[in-house]
Amino acid sequence: MAGIQSVGIIGAGQMGAGIAQVMALCGYDVMLNDIDAAQIDAACASVQKNLSRQADKGAISTEDAAAVLSRIQPATAFDALADCDLVIESASENQAIKKDIFIELSKILKPDALMASNTSSISITGLAAVTDRPEKFIGIHFMNPVPVMKLVEVIRGIATSSETFEATKALVERLGKTMAVSEDFPAFIVNRLLMPMINEAIYTLYEGVGSVEAIDTAMKLGANHPMGPLQLADFIGLDTCLAIMQVLYEGLADTKYRPCPLLVKYVEAGWLGRKTGRGFYDYSGAEPAPTR
Ligand code: CAA
Repeated sequence: MAGIQSVGIIGAGQMGAGIAQVMALCGYDVMLNDIDAAQIDAACASVQKNLSRQADKGAISTEDAAAVLSRIQPATAFDALADCDLVIESASENQAIKKDIFIELSKILKPDALMASNTSSISITGLAAVTDRPEKFIGIHFMNPVPVMKLVEVIRGIATSSETFEATKALVERLGKTMAVSEDFPAFIVNRLLMPMINEAIYTLYEGVGSVEAIDTAMKLGANHPMGPLQLADFIGLDTCLAIMQVLYEGLADTKYRPCPLLVKYVEAGWLGRKTGRGFYDYSGAEPAPTR
């Protein structure tokens, strides 16, 4: 493919919004899609807020901030993505939902367009297999918050061509990010290491070894992590943490990846972390308050 200029993003949650922001900042034209139009508006508002903050600090000019924002177009239907050179799916961490998206995309994208998933755990080979172009399919896994985190994990499916990989490598470089290449195994590299640690922190809480505050303080000050594991779990979203643990547990068939029952219970309760106002912390007050 000659070069990527226009990028479609499916899913305007915190990851989709962040991906849209960094893409537009680097000059790509972005079409941002979501099943919920209000979510697209919320994502654009959050990008605007981030850009204004950068303009206030003098990191970019006010004109550049406006130009970046104008490069992000809302797309309420998939048809609007028909001319994109690359589409990155960033929907919920649910295999069935992602497969449905890629089946629909296969019908409308131009033949040389690339498809990518921002999945944090699901088989790239399996997602690619439902498309009409497995060789043009790749995993591009951004980290949260996307504008801040320097890493992009790149995952080749079994059928991914070297042209697709090279185009992705060039894109990651243009974004000013650093690539780590992972083989297509459950949860890849980052979440294979990070999620068992978060799950173990939840077990530590569940078994009464420490309080929320003690566990997070221990890892922040004792291991120099920027956030404690429970704070990070709330930040990522407990539903996403559980989905990733389930992929590890089922995909590697090893009981050491068993999701902690307390994580399951929190997700059942709808206590999904920051995005719902409650997880291991309660976010209703001025400062997050530990709940246990
Ligand atoms: N969006 C955009 N920018 C953000 C941001 C956001 N959500 N949150 C913070 N920032 C920016 C701030 O504007 C600030 O920018 P400047 O330096 O230019 O002023 C910078 O980040 C630092 O922010 P703060 O000073 O407010 O806060 P901090 O120093 O505590 O850092 C943090 C915040 C970067 C989020 C830091 O706490 C951190 O690194 N946490 C760990 C994040 C992490 O581990 N992410 C990976 C999660 S795993 C994942 O994403 C994979 C997966 O599949 C689940």
